[in-house]
Amino acid sequence: MTVTTNRAEAAGAARASATDVSAAPAYAARALDPRVLRADFPILRREINGHPLVYLDSASTSQKPDVVIDAVADYYREYNANVHRGIYTIGEEATAAYEAARAKVAAFINAPDHHEIVFTRNATEAINLVSYSWGRSNIGRGDTIVLTEMEHHANLVPWQLLVQEKDGDLEFIPITDDGILRLDVFEVLLGLKPKLVAFTQVSNTLGTINPVRQMVEMAHAAGALVLIDGAQGVPHLPVDVQELGCDFYAFSGHKMLGPMGSGALWARRELLESMPPFLAGGEMIREVHLRRSDFNDIPWKFEAGTPAVGDAIGLGMAVDYLTGLGMDAVRAHERELVVYALETLPRDVPGIELYGPLDPDLRGGVIPFNLPGIHPHDIAQVLDRFGIAVRAGHHCTMPLHERLDLAATARASFSVYSTTDDVDALVRGLVEVQRVFGA
Ligand SMILES: Cc1ncc(COP(=O)(O)O)c(C=O)c1O
Repeated sequence: MTVTTNRAEAAGAARASATDVSAAPAYAARALDPRVLRADFPILRREINGHPLVYLDSASTSQKPDVVIDAVADYYREYNANVHRGIYTIGEEATAAYEAARAKVAAFINAPDHHEIVFTRNATEAINLVSYSWGRSNIGRGDTIVLTEMEHHANLVPWQLLVQEKDGDLEFIPITDDGILRLDVFEVLLGLKPKLVAFTQVSNTLGTINPVRQMVEMAHAAGALVLIDGAQGVPHLPVDVQELGCDFYAFSGHKMLGPMGSGALWARRELLESMPPFLAGGEMIREVHLRRSDFNDIPWKFEAGTPAVGDAIGLGMAVDYLTGLGMDAVRAHERELVVYALETLPRDVPGIELYGPLDPDLRGGVIPFNLPGIHPHDIAQVLDRFGIAVRAGHHCTMPLHERLDLAATARASFSVYSTTDDVDALVRGLVEVQRVFGA
C-alpha cells in the first residue's frame, strides 16, 4: 500500500486497518523526516500569540496525527456501538476494531499473546491495577518493594498506599548527581529479597534511559517480580517485552500519538490469570448470581464497564503510524535532537543549567533546565508569548527534585514531529526571557 497524505484516503485506510487486524497498516514504512511529518499534525499549524506553535511538551502528552483523529471520528460517525454485546452490524464492527487495536498494541511491544494486553485509561491506572490486584494479594507485613529515586508519582504513590495498608517497606535505588541509577546499591537492596522491583524505563524529568534489561535480570535473580513504567519508553524506543523479560509493563497511549484516555498494561498471562479483579461490574464477569460471580477470561476480567472504544481504536492507529516510521528511526531522530540541544543550549544561552546525563546514548528526548534567578513558571510564561510550550514545575517527580536540591525545573521534550528549528526557537526564546528579567 502506498502512503498517502490525502486525508480522505488515509481515513479509508485507517478504517480498513481498524476493523481488520490482517489489513495493511494505514501507514506503510516511510522515512522519518520531521519537516514532512509535521503536515500530519493539524495542531502544529496553529499560531499562538502571533507565532507558530513550538510544541516542546511531548513528555507530558504528544500531539495527534490526522490519521488518529480521523480513526476516532470515524468510529463515532460510522460504527459507534458498545463492544462484546451487540448482535448487529455496527456492534460487531466496534468489537472487531476494539480487539484489532488490542492485537496491534500487543504486536507493537512484542507481547506473546494479545490477551495479555489490558486496556486502561493511562499508565497511572495500569500501575494502580497491579498495586491493587497483585499487590493486595501478594504483599504482606515486612515485605519490601524496591523503587528508584527518579520515579514519577504514578509509580510511587500507589506503592506507598500499598505498603502503608499492608505494613510493608519501600526502598529506593539512589541516583548519581547526573541522574544515573546506582546499580551497586540496587545489588545491595536486592539482598533484602524484595517481592517487587518497579522502575521507569526512561525518566520523564531527566531523560535518563535506564538499563532495564540488566535490572530485570538482577531482580529476577533475587526472586523479585518486575514492573516497568513504560510511559516514556514505548513512545520513544523500540520495546520488546519478551526481550526485556519483565513481568508487568505499563504505558499511556496519549504520549505515543494516541488519544487521551488510552493506555495499557501488559502482564504475563499466568500473572493476570492468578490476579483478582481490580474494578468490578459488567464486562468482567461470566456468570453473576445474587451472592457470587464468576469472572471473565483475561483481559476482559480487568476491563469492567463500557471501555473507551474509540480511544483504543485511535491508539491502534497511533501504533500503525509509529510502526510505519519504525521505532529505531524514532529513537535515532530524538537522539539527534538531544545532541543538538545539548550543544546549542549551553553555547547560546549564557548561564543555563542543564540536568540529566550528558551522554546522548543514555538520554531520551527530554531536556530539563533552569535559568539562574528566574523561576521556571516565569520562563514558561514568557516563552508562551512566543508560542513556545514547555513544562515548568516538578513534573510529578517531587522526590527527584528534592534529591537534586531543586525547587522546580523547566523542561523541553521531543517527539517525532520535533525539529532543530524548535530547539533554535527555544534558544531565541530563552535569550529573550533573560532580557526580560535583566539576567
Ligand atoms: C514516567 C511516567 N510514568 C507515569 C506517568 C503517568 O502517565 P499518565 O498521566 O498518562 O497516567 C507519566 C506521565 O508523565 C510519566 O512520565
